Amino acid sequence: MAYQHILVTKIKGVGRIQLDRPDVLNALNLALMDELVHALNEMERDDEVGCILLCGNEHAFAAGADIFEMLDATTTDLLVQDQFSAWDRLSEVKKPMIAAVSGMALGGGCELAMACDLILAAEGSSFGQPEINLGVMPGAGGTQRLVRSVGKAKAMEMVLLGRPITAQEAYRLGLINEVVPAHQLEEEAMKWAQRLANKAPLAVRLAKESILKSMESTLAEGLDFEQKCFYLLFATEDQKEGMRAFVEKRRPHFHGK
Ligand code: COA
Repeated sequence: MAYQHILVTKIKGVGRIQLDRPDVLNALNLALMDELVHALNEMERDDEVGCILLCGNEHAFAAGADIFEMLDATTTDLLVQDQFSAWDRLSEVKKPMIAAVSGMALGGGCELAMACDLILAAEGSSFGQPEINLGVMPGAGGTQRLVRSVGKAKAMEMVLLGRPITAQEAYRLGLINEVVPAHQLEEEAMKWAQRLANKAPLAVRLAKESILKSMESTLAEGLDFEQKCFYLLFATEDQKEGMRAFVEKRRPHFHGK
């Protein structure tokens, strides 16, 4: 598939997807979201990809859903288009995803970053859910994932007042993993992504699934799920390799088996 709204590359085990509608601050139209899902599906199937890195440009990660596309939409249009099916697919990605945020991550941009597993941000970037200022509200996780990351009080403030927060504040609140100088973001994010890509893929996959499970299960259910995943990993060659490499004082070589 020839992509028009994203740039896709593969670098040393990392599948890199750059949102590429710079004229509209990477506003997320339906076509971009379709392309994103297509690229993610390809990367999920590609054994050479151990981690997916999502980024924008230096000015914007993404300024939200495309307002021009939605302006005249009716409820029926949204239902027929199945507006959020692409977002559902994002939640199902099994490989680890890192968001590298520079500039604005607003509305769907913030929600897209939150759908990733780790978020690195450039100094000067900002995160927000400004939909309220357009007479609507977040629809792709902005009232759900946000509250789980930053707590009720701050989520209410960001969603009801539509006021963005700085990367530093996002870091303090636990929304993101690290803030780095803007010129180092790409390099740092790639470092994290390659580190992840070198881990045992099945262990990473089940650990990710187990953490995500904790957001929608009781503690007892979550602990049970975690234990089953732990047991499962002892059926993998990578478990033997990882532990044998430790005992033999060498670096492990994982194969995802
Ligand atoms: N959808 C469609 N186009 C968008 C957009 C969006 N979400 N956000 C920005 N753009 C477009 C603008 O229309 C403008 O296009 P133009 O040059 O043809 O006029 C271009 O991107 C640059 O935006 P502009 O507003 O001129 O930049 P700014 O630096 O002054 O302001 C923002 C940046 C992000 C504060 C402002 O663009 C904004 O509020 N965007 C909407 C954010 C939002 O509400 N997102 C949630 C959507 S549900």
